[in-house]
Amino acid sequence: MRIAPLAERPDLVHQVAVWGHGEWGPFDPGSTLESRLAHVRESLNVAQIPITFVALADDGTAVGTAALILDDLEGDPRNPWLASVYVPPAHRKRGIASALVRAVEDAARRIGHRRLYLFTSTAPRLYQSLGWRPLETRDYRGETIQVMDRTL
Ligand SMILES: CC(C)(COP(=O)(O)OP(=O)(O)OC[C@H]1O[C@@H](n2cnc3c(N)ncnc32)[C@H](O)[C@@H]1OP(=O)(O)O)[C@@H](O)C(=O)NCCC(=O)NCCS
Repeated sequence: MRIAPLAERPDLVHQVAVWGHGEWGPFDPGSTLESRLAHVRESLNVAQIPITFVALADDGTAVGTAALILDDLEGDPRNPWLASVYVPPAHRKRGIASALVRAVEDAARRIGHRRLYLFTSTAPRLYQSLGWRPLETRDYRGETIQVMDRTL
């Protein structure tokens, strides 16, 4: 397995958008697969935000994704954010998300950021084990979310 910028594999844009739409579409009023596709296409960068990464199995298939974006939590002035971390069920619990998180942290650091944010309703423990610090808990789009940060 290796992590690569999605820009290296634009043929995977549709796969990444389908994953994101399936997982987060229901929480994002008005979003469609087409709007997700447009956002993913905008993230085909290597050295500037937004950047989407993919985890690639040895046979080249995609086994996960994560993104570095400027804004995530609506109305929140902090940035940038680690977002859209997704690993398909068959590939979980092997460290793929952890490797994707590290790749996003490295990219943010290289670009010159000293702090990175995320929010999660599902995986605060995973991020805490990777060195992220819990900040505040709040309600957002019908869920309880934990906002976290990481010094880079
Ligand atoms: C949350 C999610 C991204 C985790 O992906 P993952 O690839 O399974 O994550 P990792 O393998 O890096 O870590 C998951 C757990 O497996 C453990 N693990 C990692 N490598 C392992 C290995 N080789 N053997 C056994 N366990 C392992 C990790 O320690 C971690 O344990 P924890 O849950 O107790 O902290 C994935 O479940 C997912 O896509 N969920 C749906 C979308 C989602 O909720 N995304 C997060 C939004 S913020």
